[in-house]
Amino acid sequence: MSRTLIHSQSHSQVATERPVFVSTWNFGKPANEASLRKYQGGGSILDAVEEGIRLTEADKSNASVGDGGKPNAEGKVQLDACIMHGPGTKAGSVGGIEDIAHPISVARAVMEKTPHVMLVGQGAKKFALEQGFASENLLTAKQRKEWRAWRREKRKMEAGENNHDTIALVGIAADGTLAGGCSTSGLAYKMPGRVGDSPIIGSGLYVDNEIGAAGATGVGENVMRFCGSFMVVEYMRQGLSPEEACAETIRRIARLDGRPIEDLHINFIALNKKGQFGAAGTGNGFPYAVTYPGFSDILQS
Ligand code: GLY
Repeated sequence: MSRTLIHSQSHSQVATERPVFVSTWNFGKPANEASLRKYQGGGSILDAVEEGIRLTEADKSNASVGDGGKPNAEGKVQLDACIMHGPGTKAGSVGGIEDIAHPISVARAVMEKTPHVMLVGQGAKKFALEQGFASENLLTAKQRKEWRAWRREKRKMEAGENNHDTIALVGIAADGTLAGGCSTSGLAYKMPGRVGDSPIIGSGLYVDNEIGAAGATGVGENVMRFCGSFMVVEYMRQGLSPEEACAETIRRIARLDGRPIEDLHINFIALNKKGQFGAAGTGNGFPYAVTYPGFSDILQS
């Protein structure tokens, strides 16, 4: 196993102001900025996390999250999302939900309005409709065209192609309260019913109000077998910086999986209770976004 294939900075950085928001990919930057605006307008850290993710979900040009996401093999968009609030370790999640544009908000409703953590498929949609969410067609003309072309060619989409981005967004408030969320349309042209890591608490996301928060993006199957985000938080508990915790998680996953690291296509972000943040990924540099008052930028792991 080679350590050099893991792309991460040499040490985690510390935000000088709070709140701090950290999220995956370039599209995380406008999401973080929406989170910051929500927080500065009087929202809680949980409101802020939800707001940022809603921005990404509403972006039809984003083919991997929410409205406009790539459909499953049968041409149906099935969305996964989860949310966590640090105090009390509260969590809510939806898997394989159809026709609902904001699964992150349904996940929050599951957390706040039911005694459960996760609802899936038709049950999740029924609950969303009961809560007043609108039913709408999430398959854009562009994605329908591309899906038809894929089906005509009967092409197997290999993991690692540009087909599995996800927004994971974690935040810490001025008082140290942590929250996080994760949302995705999942692997493009996935088997109907396939659910990835994103809505699985501890896999696509984990928030521990004593220690920190972590989130994942990439091929869900290579995260969810290992409780990847939980593992990152546990490494932070053991004293590793967010950056090192992400990198050590990837090393351990690669060691257990047995394949070369570069075949895994996974990335993690992390934020600890001190406002330190970091990320690591298996590709050639993983862009992630960091935002706090006076600072907002895309960094490269
Ligand atoms: N990480 C998103 C997915 O695999 O579904």
